[in-house]
Amino acid sequence: MTICGKDWLIVIPAAGAIGLAVYFVASKCQGACGDAKKDDIINKSQQKSQQKGQEKVVTEIDIEELGDSEAFCRCWRSKKFPYCDGSHNNHNKETGDNVGPLCLSKKSGSS
Ligand code: FES
Repeated sequence: MTICGKDWLIVIPAAGAIGLAVYFVASKCQGACGDAKKDDIINKSQQKSQQKGQEKVVTEIDIEELGDSEAFCRCWRSKKFPYCDGSHNNHNKETGDNVGPLCLSKKSGSS
């Protein structure tokens, strides 16, 4: 099948319409993806004022200074971050999530 003559008068507007449709669908998807990224922020409050110019929140703790056990926050809602203060319980109730702390403890009898 070859396209010639007046056939182009049909093909060109059809191709233009398809192109416009693809453009509008793609632009809608791009907006939705942008909103999803904003909603996906995990850290809502920890060290946000200090974070300007920093790519990430990094916490360094000397393992020798840890007590016998510590619970570290993994929900990013603790007022004592990086330590757990139990705020994950409210977060889990409000959202249906199931996050909890990272609990570290020294084994008894270790030297
Ligand atoms: Fe965040 Fe407990 S407060 S894990």
